[in-house]
Amino acid sequence: MILVSLQWKITVCLSVCLSVCLSVCLSIYLSIYLSTHPSTHPSIHQDKGINLTHIESRPSHMNRDQYEFFINVDTSCSKALDEVIDGLRLEISGQVHELSRNKQKDTVPWFPHEIQDLDRFANQILSYGSELEADHPGFTDQLYRARRKEFADIAYNYRHGQAIPHVEYTSEEKATWGTVFRELKTLYPTHACREHNRVFPLLEQYCGYRQDNIPQLEDISRFLQSCTGFRLRPVAGLLSSRDFLAGLAFRVFHSTQYIRHASQPMYTPEPDICHELLGHVPLFADPNFAQFSQEIGLASLGAPDDFIEKLATVYWFTVEFGLCKQGSEMKAYGAGLLSSFGELQYCLTEKPRVLPFDPEKTCLQKYPITEFQPVYFVAESFEDAKEKVRKFAATIPRPFSVRYNAYTQSIEVLDSAQQLRNLADSIAGDMGILCTALHKLEQ
Ligand SMILES: [Fe+2]
Repeated sequence: MILVSLQWKITVCLSVCLSVCLSVCLSIYLSIYLSTHPSTHPSIHQDKGINLTHIESRPSHMNRDQYEFFINVDTSCSKALDEVIDGLRLEISGQVHELSRNKQKDTVPWFPHEIQDLDRFANQILSYGSELEADHPGFTDQLYRARRKEFADIAYNYRHGQAIPHVEYTSEEKATWGTVFRELKTLYPTHACREHNRVFPLLEQYCGYRQDNIPQLEDISRFLQSCTGFRLRPVAGLLSSRDFLAGLAFRVFHSTQYIRHASQPMYTPEPDICHELLGHVPLFADPNFAQFSQEIGLASLGAPDDFIEKLATVYWFTVEFGLCKQGSEMKAYGAGLLSSFGELQYCLTEKPRVLPFDPEKTCLQKYPITEFQPVYFVAESFEDAKEKVRKFAATIPRPFSVRYNAYTQSIEVLDSAQQLRNLADSIAGDMGILCTALHKLEQ
C-alpha cells in the first residue's frame, strides 16, 4: 500500500524558493506569433542563459479567446530576466505580470488583505487539476481526465461568496469513496485523536458522511463556519505554498473536489476529496486546531520566501502528518495520516522516530514524499502547538504584525499607532466582558 504523497506541496515549495514566477498573458494570435518568431519565442531564454524550469498555457479566464502562459525560471539569471521581461513588454500587446521575485531583501511580498482577494489565487495556480503525470493511475483514462477537467473548471470559475456548486458523483466515484470510508473508519476509534472522533459523528449527522454518499463541499463549508468560522473553497489546481497558507489566515481551506482513480481506491498521488473530507475537515471543526491552523497562515503573510518554505514544512509535520499526546497515548491528527489506511497504522508503531514538536527544529526537517514518513513530530496539545507557532512567527523578519478581523474578514496590519489603539480598544472591550462574567460567576 502506498501512502498519500501530497507531492504538490513539495513542488510548490521548490517553485517559490528556487525560481522566479512570471505570468505572461498573451492573446491566441500572439501565441502563434511567438511560435513562429524566434526573437520572442521562449528560446530567447536560452540565448540569455535563462534556465526555464516550467511553462504552461491555458485559456484565459478573463477572455476565452486569449491564452495565459505561466513561466518559472531560475533565480540565478535575474539580471538577464529583466531584459527578457522588458523585451516582452515592448514586443507583445498582452500583459506581463511578475508573480514572485526576490527583488530586494526588504521588499514585502504581496499578500491578500480582504477575503475576496483570495479570488486572485484562482488565476495563479501552478498547474491545472486536469493535468496528470504519466504515472498517475488515471493518465490513460480519457473519461477520468474529462471528469477532472469538469472539477477544475468549477473551481476556476468559483468566486468568494458563491455557493460551491453541487456535484452529482457517479456510482463508480461513490464506490471508490465507499471503500476508503469503510476501511479508514475501522481505524479511527483507536488511531485518531479525540477531536477527530468527536467531530466525525457530527459530520455523519449533518453533512451526509456515509459509505454510500460523497458529501458536498458546500454543506461541509456551512457546517465548519458554524463551528469555527472555517470555510472551504474549491481549488482548480496547484497553489503556491504562499497562496495556500494565506488562505488559512482567513480560515479558508482550499479543497479539491474530485476523487482518485477507481482502479486504485487506496492510493492517490495527490490530494483528493477523500483526503480533504476524511483527513482535514473533522479537525477544522475543532476551535483549538482551527486557531492553530490560522496561526500558521497569519505567520505566512508577507514573510520572505525562505520562511514560507519553513512554514510549509511546519504545516507538513502538523496539519498533514502531526501526532499529538492524549493522556498516556499518542494519536494521529494529521490529514495525511487520517486519510491513509497504511500510514495511519504505521505511524503509531515503533518503526518511525517521534520527536517533540518544536517549530525551530521541525521547520528544518527533511522529509520524503513517496513513502511513509521516517520522522513524526508530536504536539503536547493544539494549544501548546499554537503558542509555539506564534513564538516562531515572531522571529519572521517582517516590519509589522498582523491580525485577522473576523467582523470585516480582513487582515489588519499593525504598523501604526491608530491600528494599535484600535486593537487596545478591542482588547479592553473583551476584558470588560471577561471581568463582568467572572464577577457574576463569583456572586
Ligand atoms: Fe492535505
